[in-house]
Amino acid sequence: MKIISVVGARPNFMKIAPFIKAIDAHNTSIMLSEPGAWKIEHLLVHTGQHYDDRMSKTFFEELHIPEANINLGVGSGTHAEQVGQTMIEFEKVVKAEKPDWVVVVGDVNATLACSVTAKKQWVKCCHIEAGLRSGDIRMPEEINRLVTDRLCDMLLTPDAMSSDNLRKEGTPEEKIIFVGNIMIDTLEANREHAAALSIRDIVYRNLLSGATLHANVPDNEQYVVMTLHRPSNVDNREVLEPLIRFLLDEVTCDFSLIWPIHPRTMKQLAAFGLYEQVLNHPNMIMLEPVGYFDMLRLNMGARAMLTDSGGLQEECTILGTPCLTLRWNTERPITLKEFGGASVLVGNNIDRIRTEYHIARQQPRKTMRPDLWDGHTAERCLKAILDAS
Ligand code: UD1
Repeated sequence: MKIISVVGARPNFMKIAPFIKAIDAHNTSIMLSEPGAWKIEHLLVHTGQHYDDRMSKTFFEELHIPEANINLGVGSGTHAEQVGQTMIEFEKVVKAEKPDWVVVVGDVNATLACSVTAKKQWVKCCHIEAGLRSGDIRMPEEINRLVTDRLCDMLLTPDAMSSDNLRKEGTPEEKIIFVGNIMIDTLEANREHAAALSIRDIVYRNLLSGATLHANVPDNEQYVVMTLHRPSNVDNREVLEPLIRFLLDEVTCDFSLIWPIHPRTMKQLAAFGLYEQVLNHPNMIMLEPVGYFDMLRLNMGARAMLTDSGGLQEECTILGTPCLTLRWNTERPITLKEFGGASVLVGNNIDRIRTEYHIARQQPRKTMRPDLWDGHTAERCLKAILDAS
């Protein structure tokens, strides 16, 4: 049996790593056992959407992901350019390789482009992390989720709410399989390693080019971590500027703020004339985009997380870090306080952010482990594919 799995952008890498490990374990076990069992031929395709070493290569190295067999070299561009170029290039791969299954993960442009291309070639397609819905069609990822889930033959969901979303949309029951959250496989496999890292080393290794460290490196619980990259937060000055003011004038009076900055956000800060203020503030610790281990370690010791990333909301749930989600909606409601998680939606309203920030800074860590977020999701994903083949 031949499987092509696809990655394109940073949040895909921690989802594909355990799946590839599960394939390797399967191939090793069948070499030792039943002669009739299938060896899986696996090809990894990287669309090339994220291409900087810090957005891509670092994750391959840290998570022992083998180099992609094929890189489509798509790079940056508008959504239509990224999706269109990926489809053109991926179609050639599917035609040449004739896989039995294409496996896509998450909700980035690669997920959409490659599921559409696979189905147009009548190739079976499996979506890992299916059924998430924010209900916000202005979010590019929501479009990617809707199209991918409508087309795929197998929908592997991270939680029961996601399975229910698919049922409500009329998805046939036999397509939906609840397997748990594959990203937590990666968290569990690496948390011991991450825990041993020092904050000081992380800061010095990743200090943003041009930044100086004005204050001492903070200890555990003495800093807040922030990540921000969604167009809805960083592309409008009216949204980004008040948030920056709140951070510089208020949060940094209580804590150091460690901010590994996404390339898009850095460009926008510069465009709005905010970059120098952020860079020169004594309690801001500006970092380049950090690798998986470093981010996990920063999260483990943070007093609070401010983020618009879906993956970090999930990691905060397991680690118990109080999390302010800088969005008005989430496709991951299971991470919210009302469902037992550590996260609260604060959108981009500064009054709301302030109120929740003051609650979060006093809030003790409270870990939560949703059903099947147990570190063994990848094995269940592969078993589902093998059972259906
Ligand atoms: C993409 C995903 C988003 C995910 C995010 C994680 C889609 C629709 N969005 O958004 O779901 O949460 O990745 O980062 O697929 N850039 C670089 N170097 C890189 C990659 C990007 O400098 O390696 C810059 C480029 O200027 C680019 C911008 O960052 O235009 C945005 O990158 P892009 O891949 O378009 O989307 P993300 O915002 O990263």
